[in-house]
Amino acid sequence: MDERIVTNEVLGEDTFETSIRPDSIDEYIGQSEAKENLTIFMKAAKMRKEPLDHVLLYGPPGLGKTTLAYIIANEMGGNIKTASGPSIEKPGDLAAVLSTLEPGDILFIDEIHRMPRYIEEILYPAMEDFMLDIMIGNDASSRNIKIELPPFTLVGATTRAGDLSDPLRDRFGIVLKLEFYNTEELTSIVQRTSRVLEAPIEDQAAIELARRSRGTPRIANRLFKRVRDFALVMGDGVINKEIASMSLDRLKVDKLGLDNTDYHILKSIIEQFNGGPVGIDALAASIGEERGTLEDVYEPYLLQNGLLKRTSRGRMVTEKAYEHLGIEKK
Ligand SMILES: Nc1ncnc2c1ncn2[C@@H]1O[C@H](COP(=O)(O)OP(=O)(O)O)[C@@H](O)[C@H]1O
Ligand SMILES: [Mg+2]
Repeated sequence: MDERIVTNEVLGEDTFETSIRPDSIDEYIGQSEAKENLTIFMKAAKMRKEPLDHVLLYGPPGLGKTTLAYIIANEMGGNIKTASGPSIEKPGDLAAVLSTLEPGDILFIDEIHRMPRYIEEILYPAMEDFMLDIMIGNDASSRNIKIELPPFTLVGATTRAGDLSDPLRDRFGIVLKLEFYNTEELTSIVQRTSRVLEAPIEDQAAIELARRSRGTPRIANRLFKRVRDFALVMGDGVINKEIASMSLDRLKVDKLGLDNTDYHILKSIIEQFNGGPVGIDALAASIGEERGTLEDVYEPYLLQNGLLKRTSRGRMVTEKAYEHLGIEKK
């Protein structure tokens, strides 16, 4: 498969992401509801001189979950230790991270829904009572050990809150859902990136980039980087509207931010399933994608934009999709 420029997954090149990541809550653009609540909870925790309650962040990739985890650590003045669900394969892996924690630390577990259930259980007492409670060894000499942990804050991130077990979800005192960004917010993000990278962009060009970024900062920044190249080589380095539109067209990102894969999905529903409804598994098979990727990465934006709808019998394209694709409905 082609590498998608508008993918919201982390690509190798994205070490550059860390350099443009806002590191204080004031610089974090948009998500006003999540941000306002979080600001209050952080302030209250500081006034009580207690660690912040455990935080669960959820929403599609690229909307700022990892960024927010680092901001929480900065704002609370703690160190951040990171782990990811898939990398925690056995109880010892989790115990190893937990035992490095110091008072006030933030433990960030990305893709927390991918942690095996039986390991999850170690987290329960750790979250509730700051107690590490594990079995050592697996024969007759095995024994249970309990270690007291310093007060810490677990920040979990997931693209699917629904995949989390109830007992785990219930142990997060603060649950924040991240939403797609509107054009105005993405424009500010693009302008901020332009300042940080010292690559000037005109307002109209920033708006154009924002409109075509699928509501996703990661995509806005990635497009910015590419458009900057076009401006450097084909113009005078300043990103203007003309350069922005031309390069986005060349990158095959359309006016709604859709790319080839989105077209493939919509066309496949129209041409092979007569517009739907079609079950998610059949659809995934027909476009050669994994179901999870379809659900987490592609579908949310198509749903949000009213191109696709979910019914009890499966996915259907909308009138708007026929119009946008210029296909006549049969
Ligand atoms: N609210 C925001 N304001 C400014 N930039 C943001 C914001 N959210 C995300 N970004 C940018 O988008 C990139 C991707 O965000 P990230 O936190 O890695 O997303 P996620 O963890 O949800 O996949 C970051 O490098 C950051 O530069
Ligand atoms: Mg992330």
